[in-house]
Amino acid sequence: MNDNEVKRGTISLHGAQRIADVPRRIFGSFIEHLGRSVYGGIYEPEHETADEHGFRGDVLDLVKELGVTCVRYPGGNFVSNYRWQDGVGPKSQRPVRRDLAWHTTEPNQVGLDDFYHWSKAAGTEIMMAVNMGTQGLQSALDEIEYANGAPGTALADWRVANGIREPMDIRMWCIGNEMDGPWQVGHMSAEEYAVAVERTAHAMKLAEPGLELVACGSSSASMPTFGTWERTVLTRAYDYLDFVSCHAYYFERGAKSPQDFLASGENMKHFIATVAAQADDAKAAHQGDHDIALSFDEWGVWYQDDWNRQEAEWKAQNRVLHNEPWPTAPHLLEDTYTVRDAVVEGALMIELLAHCDRVRSASRAQLVNVIAPIMTQNGGPAWKQTVFYPFAFAAHHAVGDAFAPTIHSSQVHTESYGDVDAVRAVVTFDQQTHSGCVLMVNRDMQQATELHLDLQDLLSNTQFTEIIADEQVLLHDDDPYATNTIEHPDRVKLRTLDITASAEHPAQFTVTLPEESWAGFAFHLV
Ligand code: AHR
Repeated sequence: MNDNEVKRGTISLHGAQRIADVPRRIFGSFIEHLGRSVYGGIYEPEHETADEHGFRGDVLDLVKELGVTCVRYPGGNFVSNYRWQDGVGPKSQRPVRRDLAWHTTEPNQVGLDDFYHWSKAAGTEIMMAVNMGTQGLQSALDEIEYANGAPGTALADWRVANGIREPMDIRMWCIGNEMDGPWQVGHMSAEEYAVAVERTAHAMKLAEPGLELVACGSSSASMPTFGTWERTVLTRAYDYLDFVSCHAYYFERGAKSPQDFLASGENMKHFIATVAAQADDAKAAHQGDHDIALSFDEWGVWYQDDWNRQEAEWKAQNRVLHNEPWPTAPHLLEDTYTVRDAVVEGALMIELLAHCDRVRSASRAQLVNVIAPIMTQNGGPAWKQTVFYPFAFAAHHAVGDAFAPTIHSSQVHTESYGDVDAVRAVVTFDQQTHSGCVLMVNRDMQQATELHLDLQDLLSNTQFTEIIADEQVLLHDDDPYATNTIEHPDRVKLRTLDITASAEHPAQFTVTLPEESWAGFAFHLV
């Protein structure tokens, strides 16, 4: 890198807007009964690290290191043909079923009770999804009574008989999954789903007014009904809804160019603005008293074309009855992530935080083995993918309030979004601990950026005089396609970010972000 190739920019807190408090749920993730996410992922009773419930201890350790706060379960597409009742009670008596979403065999050795135990061990909140494809209102009410009811009624007593006396206190419930998608078992038109979700949410809140309910939004911004789906559903069911879901996956082959892929956050911004506008319109139409927040409960990088090809081949065998045994826990959606993928995910996390006034919950999809930051070998080790790192840093350091700094940056050209800022950043600061962090990304594929970082405003009108660095990390590699694998689990790791403090101003720094890189700077005031 010679000096001519370095661009210059600034990230300044001077005059910065407070966005909102950072909701802890924004660091959520997702476990679906899909491939080896559950079986061979979180659950492997024969594994040498397994606990008394059969959950892998090495995976639990990595989940804690990742800093995940809330986990959506049990799907995903899977939930739309799932009977939650199959997954509770003595394991030897649980039925084995076919799963139409992923054409696999579901052994039902993990279900609601088991996942409750796993969540306790992981220290994570449960975000439960109910089946609106082949089940519906009654099943949702039964599940709530089973999970949350006080002992003394039939379903709550069934839970007690299965070994869990205390109510599980599950607050967040997703009413179905991607019901707009033609691939979804029992998918619906916007009007059909609007009626169904209104009835179901109304009844769920009769059972427990304190529940936080999530309606299905569009399964991607490229759905033909994107926007109108949200309008129809939110306007109809406004009174009973707290969240609307957003799902967005990105991958390099799915973008117009690698530079467009790096700028995927622009698409996410548009997604958030569109859905937030629909939520506001629904509130206005009802002269409502509450905002419907966004639950970005599936986001991340997923090489979707691989799965689409597999699915198309399976369906193309149209004379085949598929009465062969369907596999149990096959290797599905086991994408290996590159450094570039991790930079994109770091940038997406910055967008989520930069919009945390509207996005009050999010789940990086998924958690283990299936499009995941954590990978395992059956009977073998667990390791971190590249995308583990920016998520973990943000989950541990982005606490308190989020601020949108003023950014002066050079631009990069994209085919999809026109000219966009190369640099995106968000700052968080916690008034309790007087600590904060800056998350930054350089989306320019060609050129580094030297940034002047001005955090002076944090010291104004306080007794503090200095900013002390706690952690300064950089994700970058000369090979943007470098990956971590079982053979080389530590090929990609965080490096130390060089930050130079200004001699005259104690809260000003100079930092250089190489081309396509993500960085985090955690600090406290003294
Ligand atoms: O996360 C994989 C799948 O992506 C989920 O099952 C579905 O909701 C989405 O289409």
